[in-house]
Amino acid sequence: MNRIGKKEQTYIQEVLDGQFSSANTYQMVTRLEKTFAEKFHVKHAIAMVNGTATLHMALEAAGVKPGDEVICPPLTMSSTSIAVLQANAVPVFADVDKNTFLITAETIEKVITKKTKAIITVSLYGLAPQMEEIMEVARKNHLIVIEDNAECYGAFQDHKLVGTFGHMASYSFQSSKHLTAGEGGMVITEDDELADKLRRYSGLGYAGISGKKGRITKDDIQSPDYERHVVLGWNYRMADLCAAVALGQVERMEELVEIRCKSAAYYEEQVKDCEWLQPQLVKEGNIPSYWTYVLRLDIEKVDWHVFRKKYQEFGGDGIYAAWKLSYQEPMFQNKSFLNREKSGIYDSYDYKKIHCANAEFLQPRLLQLKTNYYELEKARQQAEVLGKTIAYFDAQIQEKRRTS
Ligand SMILES: Cc1ncc(COP(=O)(O)O)c(C=O)c1O
Repeated sequence: MNRIGKKEQTYIQEVLDGQFSSANTYQMVTRLEKTFAEKFHVKHAIAMVNGTATLHMALEAAGVKPGDEVICPPLTMSSTSIAVLQANAVPVFADVDKNTFLITAETIEKVITKKTKAIITVSLYGLAPQMEEIMEVARKNHLIVIEDNAECYGAFQDHKLVGTFGHMASYSFQSSKHLTAGEGGMVITEDDELADKLRRYSGLGYAGISGKKGRITKDDIQSPDYERHVVLGWNYRMADLCAAVALGQVERMEELVEIRCKSAAYYEEQVKDCEWLQPQLVKEGNIPSYWTYVLRLDIEKVDWHVFRKKYQEFGGDGIYAAWKLSYQEPMFQNKSFLNREKSGIYDSYDYKKIHCANAEFLQPRLLQLKTNYYELEKARQQAEVLGKTIAYFDAQIQEKRRTS
């Protein structure tokens, strides 16, 4: 299978054939949004430049104000909390579960304060946290929930498509994601008011646009009386060329998700009897989409770097570690927030003192195995390498036991 196929090429050609004339501009984005909304059975889909801008705009649409607290997990790609800072709000980190690696209703509840305004859940590696439990906590505390599903297209929970639990859900088309256009993002929502705000804030605050209407008519915009900007907005609009590729990918979503799930199944087969490698726990009712296949390594038995080196020696591809926990990044530790730290908002928050015990336990132990193989034979070979690596270290562990 080709990751980028005929459909994407055809749509790109259509955009180019349109010569970027004003009549054609934004047509492809509109088509993409319509298709995306239909795929997820939601009312609104609003395309943006990437999956960080989408989170930022979701927070602005949620009405998050400077100094409001937004709860998010620390074990994620840092865009989740960076977007909170971009909205001049305060990221508050809730710990994750040691087995699912995900934020939980319980850990969220522990960090709710009077200042909490929103929660960003992260469907990490293609697996969603227990959303109904989290929504229950949110309802009780009048909080907005934004699902960060950059890594989670096409997963299900309790027979519902992941992305349809929260008030909004955010997606990324960055190159490593299930669906890609090189870069790009999407927010979905059922709420008309949120949709209007998402569109307006990501479209420079233009008056004439709304959730359902991404373009302004020529008659409007050509008039000398036209007042364009009704609120402060950002220019986070997606380009038609990106939308062309993304449209082809969205139409092929099931196929592109399925191929990652098949790679994951090969790995699963190899680790099922291994005591020192623990896959991400999939709770009942969940069908994940395996952005990557992730294992928790017992580093008391096998060193992380030694495992990775041996895996590669046997012919395996590079294994990624989990990102540093967001609050461990120098930007948080030193509060290098581009003068926002001078606002006083962050004075009572010291990220050097934050500790999420489970996330800190997990971060040095996780192994992210690639699932983006478009030839399944390659995935099968990689799983065989995993099996060989496990057998190698099993023999070493047994030898150690015998001689001690
Ligand atoms: C969980 C998560 N959130 C947000 C993002 C940001 O998306 P983008 O790179 O499109 O800005 C990513 C990945 O890049 C991600 O993995």
